[in-house]
Amino acid sequence: MSQQQISLPAKLINGGLAGIVGVTCVFPIDLAKTRLQNQRQGQQVYKSMMDCLVKTVRSEGYFGMYRGAAVNLTLVTPEKAIKLAANDFFRHHLSKDGKGLTVFKEMLAGCGAGMCQVVITTPMEMLKIQLQDAGRLAAQQRKPGILAPTKLNPTNAVLSRSYTVVPSSPGTVSATQIAKDLLLKEGIRGLYKGLGATLMRDVPFSIVYFPLFANLNSLGKPSPEGAAPFYWSFVAGCAAGSTAAVVVNPCDVVKTRLQSLNKGANEETYSGVIDCVSKILRKEGPSAFLKGAGCRALVIAPLFGIAQVMYFVGVGEFILGLLQDPQSCVEISPQ
Ligand SMILES: *[C@@H]1O[C@H](CO)[C@@H](O)[C@H](O)[C@H]1NC(C)=O
Repeated sequence: MSQQQISLPAKLINGGLAGIVGVTCVFPIDLAKTRLQNQRQGQQVYKSMMDCLVKTVRSEGYFGMYRGAAVNLTLVTPEKAIKLAANDFFRHHLSKDGKGLTVFKEMLAGCGAGMCQVVITTPMEMLKIQLQDAGRLAAQQRKPGILAPTKLNPTNAVLSRSYTVVPSSPGTVSATQIAKDLLLKEGIRGLYKGLGATLMRDVPFSIVYFPLFANLNSLGKPSPEGAAPFYWSFVAGCAAGSTAAVVVNPCDVVKTRLQSLNKGANEETYSGVIDCVSKILRKEGPSAFLKGAGCRALVIAPLFGIAQVMYFVGVGEFILGLLQDPQSCVEISPQ
């Protein structure tokens, strides 16, 4: 499964398809993650991931679990394109003799790719989070005992009003509308709220993921020179991915909190990463940084696993082959 030999267009197809299949499979867990991370002590609407999913289906229907999924479905391919191109660029410049990279250099290339990728990831997360969290805010307002009106961040009040007018029907605002509002009222900066937190999450992710994957993967090698069997790399990728996701979860909590524009009753606002970290520590204790960690592990493992299978099967190469020479499928398929 040497990545170097696959062409960039084929990688793009593999990555894009993996993203689309992945989003379809795990988006509901991603939604539960966002909602659990945004809950404050004492006013929990959801007890657990399952509880969140059940309540979401009950009050918002099956498609309620997919609120915000359109953002991922449309942007996952450009996001992967940037990441793959950047990763290739860094790998190429880090390898002198065209041979394989050391784990350390793989990690550096991963960090570099992560830094380029945030250009798309941050606005993506920004829009996704507003859509995912709307249902929680609506549920919180309906909950007896929490009767205070939704408090809006004063700086966002104007912006937020447009999509909190009807909190009981959170299915009315589209991602494009939110993006337009943000651009109009805050300019490009509005879309890049939480950029720092996103970097703080995605760069350390690579630092944990690459060495961990390399070590786990080499445990399955029959000889020091040989390659680990596919199933082994698959499990190693999922395990390394989920571990890295849990390790950087505190940054993900901070990011989710910073990017959530609409706040529920008694939910404090934050002016930046440091303010957010200290307020969470003070009001909710260190354990709050683990909110949604289980969900994140459950989201990342299938996303990685599906991507690995796409590369292994060579879906991208197959599709490109069909495009270049439609006759060839007759010869390829019986293999
Ligand atoms: C949606 O996209 C964001 C931004 O890249 C990512 O963090 C998240 O894991 C994606 N969710 C799913 C279910 O693919």
